[in-house]
Amino acid sequence: MSINIAIDGPAGAGKSTIAKKLAKELAFIYVDTGAMYRAIALYLLRNGMEKEDAQTIAKCCSKIDVGIQYQNGEQCVMLNGENVNSFIRTEDVSRVTSKISVYPQVRAKLSDLQQKVARDNDVIMDGRDIGTCVLPHAQVKIYLTASVSARAKRRYEELRARGEEPELAQIEADIKERDDRDMHREIAPLKKAEDAVLIDSSEMSIREVVTAILELLKKNGIKRKGVSVAKFAGFCFGVKRAVNKVYEHADIQNRPIYTYGPIIHNEEVVRDLEAKGVMVVDSYEQLASLPKGIVIIRSHGVPKEVYDQITQAGFEIEDATCPFVLKIHQIVQDFSKDGYEIVIIGNSTHPEVEGIKGWCDPQHTTVISQKEDAEKYIPKQGKSVCIVSQTTFNYKKFQELVEIIRKKGYINDIRVLNTICNATEERQNEAEDLAKTSDAMIVIGGKSSSNTQKLYEICKEKCKNTYYIQTVADLDLSQTGHIDNVGITAGASTPKNIIEEVQKYVRTKL
Ligand code: F3S
Repeated sequence: MSINIAIDGPAGAGKSTIAKKLAKELAFIYVDTGAMYRAIALYLLRNGMEKEDAQTIAKCCSKIDVGIQYQNGEQCVMLNGENVNSFIRTEDVSRVTSKISVYPQVRAKLSDLQQKVARDNDVIMDGRDIGTCVLPHAQVKIYLTASVSARAKRRYEELRARGEEPELAQIEADIKERDDRDMHREIAPLKKAEDAVLIDSSEMSIREVVTAILELLKKNGIKRKGVSVAKFAGFCFGVKRAVNKVYEHADIQNRPIYTYGPIIHNEEVVRDLEAKGVMVVDSYEQLASLPKGIVIIRSHGVPKEVYDQITQAGFEIEDATCPFVLKIHQIVQDFSKDGYEIVIIGNSTHPEVEGIKGWCDPQHTTVISQKEDAEKYIPKQGKSVCIVSQTTFNYKKFQELVEIIRKKGYINDIRVLNTICNATEERQNEAEDLAKTSDAMIVIGGKSSSNTQKLYEICKEKCKNTYYIQTVADLDLSQTGHIDNVGITAGASTPKNIIEEVQKYVRTKL
């Protein structure tokens, strides 16, 4: 038996965006009901019948068959067997669609066609009367709504992003009017089906809504099948850039290549680079005794004096410091010059923090990593303070520590610059969501990678079958029992090929 999920709700609640994302996650068909109306309008246009009255149009409906099919991964609207995707988005089709969509006979025809698609396939359908009229027997019904002001704000932002200058009050008024029309129309008015679950997305992001629905579906025994790899798994932008730079140099090797510290926390990659002749050096002293060549600075960055030492010793520098970290170097350098005390919120032994410290006056720089440090911190009476953060620091903790410093009261001027990189947060949020809806979760990363360890903890809390592996060789799924789906994420230092190997292996086991 096919599985049907109905999503109803007022205009602007994000139904189609959410439904499409869910369909992708679950490998269901997303039934674009609007596109099906458009296909009928196209038929009428092609046959010169768009001006006919409702009765005549109703009669010709018997000659129309509209369905949804997937061809090469693309959803296609089929009109009497023809893929009409590229013909149904014209102005003429829109005009005829809005005219015929109010005809009861057309609605009835469409309802029949939609029910047919739903009988033969696992579908997600969104609209205003899906749970109440079209699919009254859907296994899961959701009524997705949001306050008028939240919907108006979203629409306002959307229009602004397109370069328009809309009026928020007017958008609100239009939405109210539309709701009123939809809720009080004669045929199939918008209303929540009695057995629908209400989700108010006013304060939720798209990601949060999708996760909430996936959790709800899981409770109803409807699960994603197969393997899902997190979008943000593996290298972040800065790490990818740094690793690529090393490989580029290794490929045209015509002089010794060194990385100042391991380029990433991943033994496999470091070994692979070593095999290509790239040597890791840990200090200037070590470097000084080696033949001249190029030194690649990793994404964490280094103190200013390291650049000076390397250059003075006659080595060339390839700077792969992440641009977000370079920005912090610039900030602390500028504020230091202007006489500010610098506070770096982060882990004092982390190479990135050591690097940042090297761009400010050491006499006027403090690293704060926990509450006690912040409480003990005594800025010079009346002195101005600039606070920055390690890029991978937790935002909530950063705010707490900043607040403690702010309350000290006697600081002249306090500049707080949130320099946390959102790549870490995105990765963690996504891993958490994936773990919530997975039967088993695999976290891939180096043993010494702290961001991978953190990912593992987050996933383990949401999914008890969570495994921390370095490579596919560490993976043993024999203890998991029956599982329908597996989620995969990876720390920022995990190369793509390792993620792919794990993904391939897991597919063979499901
Ligand atoms: Fe750069 Fe952010 Fe990665 S600071 S190194 S992109 S975590």
